[in-house]
Amino acid sequence: MLLQLNVILIGILIAILSTTKAESQVAQSLPGCPDKCGNITIPYPFGTQKRCSLSEAYQVNCKNLSVPKANFKILNITVDGLMYGLLPVAHQCYNSTGSINQLQHNIKLSRFRISSTLNLLTAVGCHANAALKDLKDGSYVSVCISRTSCNGLENGSCFGQGCMQVPLPFRLTKFRLHAQRVTTKVGSWSFNNCTYAFLVQKDQYTFHETDLDKMHNRSFPVALEWTVGNTSCKEAKKNKNSYI
Ligand SMILES: *[C@@H]1O[C@H](CO)[C@@H](O)[C@H](O)[C@H]1NC(C)=O
Ligand SMILES: *[C@@H]1O[C@H](CO)[C@@H](O)[C@H](O)[C@H]1NC(C)=O
Ligand SMILES: *[C@@H]1O[C@H](CO)[C@@H](O)[C@H](O)[C@H]1NC(C)=O
Ligand SMILES: *[C@@H]1O[C@H](CO)[C@@H](O)[C@H](O)[C@H]1NC(C)=O
Ligand SMILES: *[C@@H]1O[C@H](CO)[C@@H](O)[C@H](O)[C@H]1NC(C)=O
Ligand SMILES: *[C@@H]1O[C@H](CO)[C@@H](O)[C@H](O)[C@H]1NC(C)=O
Ligand SMILES: *[C@@H]1O[C@H](CO)[C@@H](O)[C@H](O)[C@H]1NC(C)=O
Ligand SMILES: *[C@@H]1O[C@H](CO)[C@@H](O)[C@H](O)[C@H]1NC(C)=O
Repeated sequence: MLLQLNVILIGILIAILSTTKAESQVAQSLPGCPDKCGNITIPYPFGTQKRCSLSEAYQVNCKNLSVPKANFKILNITVDGLMYGLLPVAHQCYNSTGSINQLQHNIKLSRFRISSTLNLLTAVGCHANAALKDLKDGSYVSVCISRTSCNGLENGSCFGQGCMQVPLPFRLTKFRLHAQRVTTKVGSWSFNNCTYAFLVQKDQYTFHETDLDKMHNRSFPVALEWTVGNTSCKEAKKNKNSYI
């Protein structure tokens, strides 16, 4: 009798311990749903199939690691409301005859906002200007312009000589990434014909003199914020009943 009671108690204890463990691991995928795309964990509200995600916006395409209406590649998704993605580098170059070759990027992030505290707008080049522009009318979004010169280049330093970083505005979900030479004197820097503009997670880019003219085709990680509904994670946590 005593032994039986002990077995029951232990059983209950194990049950309690295992539910506590499940709760502490927070957002997993829904039952019967794949919880990974390759090696990337996909926590609910994200899902790899329609029935596995909260809505279409959270449906991850495992082939190219993307979500609908967005053009960044997912690197990882964390359960604390952050998602990391790769964004491309915009450029503007002059060749020896003074012709411009440029690539601007229209970035769309669906409902996922670029974190204004975890990323920086970066310009690389001499007299370079990196800007975020409105997709509709081309006006500058906020004050995101970096100006750089090249009078004393230093590896590892991004404070205006060949490289400059500035913070981002709040609530950015779509914009044009634009790189431009500020001076009209083309070829004033014989060693630098290209200007680059990109967004990057803080501490994830270190300037090297050798990057001048050589940053085509690179991409950088950025931190994006994901929320469910229209409130931020912090606000949502206050409402215990609806918080996932
Ligand atoms: C997944 O694998 C790729 C390639 O092996 C690697 O570069 C990446 O860092 C991995 N991602 C995670 C979240 O482990
Ligand atoms: C990913 O693939 C889907 C379907 O093939 C396509 O519609 C979408 O534009 C692609 N997304 C990116 C960011 O390449
Ligand atoms: C997610 O990716 C970013 C960018 O590569 C990295 O800084 C971060 O540590 C990664 N987080 C996890 C949980 O893998
Ligand atoms: C410079 O670019 C223009 C326009 O793309 C091209 O026509 C011209 O041949 C280029 N010149 C050189 C020297 O590459
Ligand atoms: C910066 O680093 C490059 C190699 O990455 C080196 O060739 C160059 O001399 C360095 N410049 C300075 C000013 O230290
Ligand atoms: C850069 O521009 C200058 C001046 O227009 C030109 O002399 C030089 O050849 C260009 N360099 C390259 C790599 O196109
Ligand atoms: C960038 O990629 C394109 C297409 O893959 C290639 O043609 C070009 O040479 C690359 N540019 C640089 C500077 O690597
Ligand atoms: C979120 O906002 C959008 C547009 O601002 C609105 O259409 C939608 O009903 C809102 N959803 C919720 C759950 O409040």
